[in-house]
Amino acid sequence: AKTRHFKWEVEYKYWSPDCIENIVMAINGQFPGPTIRAKVGDTINVELTNKLSTEGVVIHWHGIRQTGTPWADGTASISQCAINPGETYTYRFKVDKPGTYFYHGHLGMQRSAGLYGSLIVDLAEGEKEPFYYDGELNLLLSDWWHKNTHDQEIGLFTNPFRWVGESQSLLINGRGQYNCSLAAKFSSNTSISQCKLRGTEQCAPMILHVLPNKTYRLRLASATSLASLNLAIGNHKMLVVEADGNYVQPFEVDDLDIYSGESYSVLLTTNQDPSNNYWLSIGVRGRLPQTPQGLTILNYKPNSASKLPISAPPITPNHKMLVVEADGNYVQPFEVDDLDIYSGESYSVLLTTNQDPSNNYWLSIGVRGRLPQTPQGLTILNYKPNSASKLPISAPPITPVWNDYNHSKAFTNKILALMGTPKPPVNHDRRIILLNTQNKINGYTKWALNNVSLVLPPTPYLGSIKYGLKNAFDQKNPPENFDSINYDVTKPPVNPNSTYGNGVYMLGFNTTVDVILQNANALNANVSEIHPWHLHGHDFWVLGYGDGKFSAENDEKKLNLKNPPLRNSAIIFPYGWTALRFVADNPGVWAFHCHIEPHLHMGMGVVFAEGVDRLSTIPNEGLTCGLTGKKFSGQKN
Ligand code: C2O
Ligand code: CU
Repeated sequence: AKTRHFKWEVEYKYWSPDCIENIVMAINGQFPGPTIRAKVGDTINVELTNKLSTEGVVIHWHGIRQTGTPWADGTASISQCAINPGETYTYRFKVDKPGTYFYHGHLGMQRSAGLYGSLIVDLAEGEKEPFYYDGELNLLLSDWWHKNTHDQEIGLFTNPFRWVGESQSLLINGRGQYNCSLAAKFSSNTSISQCKLRGTEQCAPMILHVLPNKTYRLRLASATSLASLNLAIGNHKMLVVEADGNYVQPFEVDDLDIYSGESYSVLLTTNQDPSNNYWLSIGVRGRLPQTPQGLTILNYKPNSASKLPISAPPITPNHKMLVVEADGNYVQPFEVDDLDIYSGESYSVLLTTNQDPSNNYWLSIGVRGRLPQTPQGLTILNYKPNSASKLPISAPPITPVWNDYNHSKAFTNKILALMGTPKPPVNHDRRIILLNTQNKINGYTKWALNNVSLVLPPTPYLGSIKYGLKNAFDQKNPPENFDSINYDVTKPPVNPNSTYGNGVYMLGFNTTVDVILQNANALNANVSEIHPWHLHGHDFWVLGYGDGKFSAENDEKKLNLKNPPLRNSAIIFPYGWTALRFVADNPGVWAFHCHIEPHLHMGMGVVFAEGVDRLSTIPNEGLTCGLTGKKFSGQKN
């Protein structure tokens, strides 16, 4: 085993990730940051100097468990103080498990600002993967906004709230195209121009060069701030073999969902017509497309026309319509819930006002059959010796529609542990149920868990717990549960108000902890979002997913204790729950949070601590702020 030394400087730099100039957080002048490649058992030593003029910085090594080095986890206010401008902090930790990982900023919205890079751990010398491949391609996926992250962040903390909106571009290894498309010639939208790139531009796609009839391992990691992605390769199938640094039972897919914070390896066999090149595309999943619906109100008289309908505009409509005329011709009447109407068409439909007369109803129109706002990210799989500039012969694969959750669930349910993966303990010692809600605090929009919205304290927990500094954070245990009998997860919160908190779930060392993540309706009716949750310091077993409210009697027995996948990230589907189990065997303080960066910033996270008293020494370098800072400088706190 080796120690691998890196000297990094973080600074803002002008860059054109999607052919539009902007500023990015660069490391040693590069965006994305340099790739770290190491072998199991190696020690990584990164001397990080903050060259930003006015902001602190930290870097988190996503997926690395930091066994024995919790101070190197790189979470501001949790494992360390932010590194001040001009200062240097050394991250020194061991990589003990092979796999596909990445690193990223973990302060404010610095990940969205572009502070990320790949971290790949190969097997130790002489060890063999449980699958064969001839070559490897590494893709780090992200989303990109033209509005800078300071502007985005202020919007989130403003009343009225300003949401960051959908990203302008998707990036593959930091490269995307905003003002042109590699596949314009296949698009019916003539306003998009065909990219004319020489290949040397910062936004030129990283072409994937392959030889026919070989097998490649594609390493995929998603550092997105917001987007849930779907990835596909034209004409090719993929075999999923790794998820979050753990082997899975191989399964074949046409396309793959990847949420923020997740990583996968897939095997790609280049068995298609060798005279062509092929597309690799990523597209956004799981969020409403940008073009807003057109709306009006069906006013059931004598209700006031100003009385708003009681539920959100149709996703499931109340009224049926009977289609009777098309373009001036009678048609055989047929009943529909909704109707497609294309440019130039006309219809007559009969509407019977047979619904609850005490309400009004929406009439809505929405855009069909167009790409969502954020265009696909594209690159080319170049079958050598074809020229890389030869375009594929057909259009890029289409991303499944945003709300096809059955497609997403089917994929998620196929992920099972490879034989030989450690199994979960059969019983749990403690079960924490976390209700995910959107809330208001003094008019500000927040996310909360069991009605508590996380605000990180100025003193890092690792120091305040180790040194018993009771004033550093709320000493009460945060709520373990919510009122699961009365709370209706399908409706907006009855009491939308929540509170700020910074308490810690103190876990017994070596105990088995279950976490049930319970999704619910957001503030607006008929809205429930996907949240990709990520745990620091551990892998957990994903015991199962379900719809509606988790019920101990009915759902407990359906949990998979036989071959649940081990992961560090898992999603909750809209209105659903996800059950996780882990063993609290890593002394330290660990973040557990939604990996959508604006959500975390709005309070969507909790903090776990275990066995901190077992850490004989914690280096002081990372604790020179807040109350630990005072303590070390000899002042009384
Ligand atoms: Cu990749 Cu706490 O995050
Ligand atoms: Cu979230």
